[in-house]
Amino acid sequence: MILAPPVLMAALRRLEPERAHHLALTALRWGLAGRQAGPDDPILATAAFGRQLANPIGLAAGFDKNAAALAPLGRLGFGFVEAGTVTPRPQNGNPRPRLFRLEEDRAIINRMGFNNQGLEVFLANLRRAARAGLVLGANFGINKEGAEPERDYPAMASALAPHADYLAINVSSPNTPGLRDLQSGERLAGILRHIASPKPVFIKIAPDLTEDGLEAVVAAALAHDAAGLIIANTTLARPATLKNPLKRESGGLSGAPLFAPSTAMLARAARLAGGRLALIGAGGVFTPEDALAKLLAGAALVQIYTGFVYQGPAMLARLKPGLARLLRERGFSSVAEAVGAGL
Ligand SMILES: Cc1cc2nc3c(=O)[nH]c(=O)nc-3n(C[C@H](O)[C@H](O)[C@H](O)COP(=O)(O)O)c2cc1C
Repeated sequence: MILAPPVLMAALRRLEPERAHHLALTALRWGLAGRQAGPDDPILATAAFGRQLANPIGLAAGFDKNAAALAPLGRLGFGFVEAGTVTPRPQNGNPRPRLFRLEEDRAIINRMGFNNQGLEVFLANLRRAARAGLVLGANFGINKEGAEPERDYPAMASALAPHADYLAINVSSPNTPGLRDLQSGERLAGILRHIASPKPVFIKIAPDLTEDGLEAVVAAALAHDAAGLIIANTTLARPATLKNPLKRESGGLSGAPLFAPSTAMLARAARLAGGRLALIGAGGVFTPEDALAKLLAGAALVQIYTGFVYQGPAMLARLKPGLARLLRERGFSSVAEAVGAGL
């Protein structure tokens, strides 16, 4: 049982989205967002990043950009949390408004633009955080101005590796001009070649990559010993099904409309990688069925963001027992058994 007050969720929904986000983080830091009462169903236990995870459900990057609320997020019952995206130097991001809720579409559009307090604050927060067993990923990117990707990504990797269980290279935010060009095989190889990390390195990719583009990413990841891929970031696409007029806002779309394309890409990557890469599935997960679909398509782990924004911490209290039930119904005795079983 999660004790997250429904009153808090109702209040947050009425606020301007970015204010709501800051308030949610403050509530977490003050211990007002509740905690998971009991242990997870043992069928949900799984191993990743050289660690044992109580469940395969993680919080996706962008929620806790500065690693400011790690321990409270862990207490909500996430199997792992990915903090960031952090950039070398602090930056403000794009002018507001830059975050839009498309409620009837169960979607969000954001063009935050890597607003964050920079590496120094991020590291200080990591050192201070009483992580209490939390399995942690550090997601990093580059500054909008004055960046040199081949220098900056490896430097960030070296600084962050001692403090995280895995690293996530973000080359897929649509809100930093030119960033997605780094997904080309050659540019990616140029970055990966210079990263010497004792911790597993994941590459977070865009759902808008072409089939050839995905092949090139998988090849570069394999050639340069990346541990895996996170599939996917937000999309620049605007499916015809979107109802809310805010669909015209520029930025990355996340949530329900991203579920089908990101899951299809996940399955393609799983086939290309043939078990040689670990895959983390993100995009439009709201229900236990959605989470199971990601596992069956080849994800070893699943991340949530937009679903968590709409449902709050109570989401985990539904998602995890629901996933445990579905696994048993399908005759699986562990999460690992389900991974890629639908391919
Ligand atoms: C407001 C917002 C901010 C985000 N910021 C980041 C970020 O800083 N770094 C990143 O890698 N992904 C970021 N993402 C993408 C999410 O981590 C996730 O990949 C994407 O939203 C798809 O999952 P979802 O449909 O469950 O939201 C952000 C998403 C949202 C909605």
